[in-house]
Amino acid sequence: MTDPAAISCSFLGEAEKEAGHHLTTLQGWREFVAEEPATPTLSPLKEYAGLTAIEQEAVDEERLDHHARLLVVATSTVRHTVTSGRRLVLLNRHAISARRGLIVSGPAGTGKTIAITQLGRSHELLDRARHPHRSERIPAVYITVPPAATARMIAAEFGRFLGLPVRRGLNITDIIEAVVGVCLDARTGLVIVDELHNISLTTRNGAEVADTLKYFSERIPATFVYAGIDIERSNLLAGTRGAQIASRFTLIPSHPFPYGPEWKGLVAALELTLVLRDHKPGTLVALDRYLHERTGGMIGTLSHQIRGAAIDAILSGTEQITRKSLDTIPLDYGAEGQRTATARAIAR
Ligand SMILES: Nc1ncnc2c1ncn2[C@@H]1O[C@H](COP(=O)(O)OP(=O)(O)O)[C@@H](O)[C@H]1O
Ligand SMILES: [Mg+2]
Repeated sequence: MTDPAAISCSFLGEAEKEAGHHLTTLQGWREFVAEEPATPTLSPLKEYAGLTAIEQEAVDEERLDHHARLLVVATSTVRHTVTSGRRLVLLNRHAISARRGLIVSGPAGTGKTIAITQLGRSHELLDRARHPHRSERIPAVYITVPPAATARMIAAEFGRFLGLPVRRGLNITDIIEAVVGVCLDARTGLVIVDELHNISLTTRNGAEVADTLKYFSERIPATFVYAGIDIERSNLLAGTRGAQIASRFTLIPSHPFPYGPEWKGLVAALELTLVLRDHKPGTLVALDRYLHERTGGMIGTLSHQIRGAAIDAILSGTEQITRKSLDTIPLDYGAEGQRTATARAIAR
């Protein structure tokens, strides 16, 4: 993790929050898979100083954009999910029944969506490399479970991703048949279902959603990957229905980072992505404990802090990140709460 080469070179579009949204259509997903923005270079200071204010702004815009993007770091959750997923895809290829799957589970904001979408991306890139010029292939499907989903809504989510017209009058069987048909023709090998915690097996709708997913997994010869908040503690793996899932799925837990070598590596990886004129390399690594306390080990909060401070550094012209500039970036509500709790615990 401390190895700078551990940084994967893939980026998500400007708002990763939005990801859940546009990734759930084939076009949005394909754009995400294809994205490979280059890192901007710093023009020599002399050259830059000779530019007019407006010209300088245009040059800076590219760097602002760079820091606003999310760089995906190959954390252990990402690596574990990608290698386990890859292994299952290979093992499942010749399975006639009882294909095995993957569940990524943990608290909100611990990188589950990032991990499974990276798996989907790497699977699709491999498939495209192996079958060039076969644009009719849809190697990976990504859907999210809507809150209070019904079985029909889940089938419609699949339909929407594939661009199938899901008209009001269509019944669920029609939609399922169309989805299965397209997935078979398009050689779909990986089906990713996010926000699984939106299913509650104690409700009739929830149970039907689970049955629909199971039915899809029986009809589509693909590896199924699920992600959701604290799935192992929910009722999704309990009872007869749950036991079937539990026996066939590998669980990958995701959690906030403890303070340790991986955290240090993560801070170092993020620091390496900075493109600032006067930033002293190693400043952030030296502040790793402070950053851990401030963010509660949450990777999303850390990334937001550092990228926010980088943008401020460009806009204000200081061109460097310091502890003071990090202090001025507001935290998200969760981290703010954690910080107050830590402060209180220390005061006690
Ligand atoms: N591997 C990673 N590299 C960089 N940033 C990450 C990574 N994983 C998560 N993040 C950050 O954490 C935030 C939350 O991640 P996300 O995958 O949406 O969490 P979850 O799905 O568990 O709620 C992301 O928006 C991103 O800023
Ligand atoms: Mg998520």
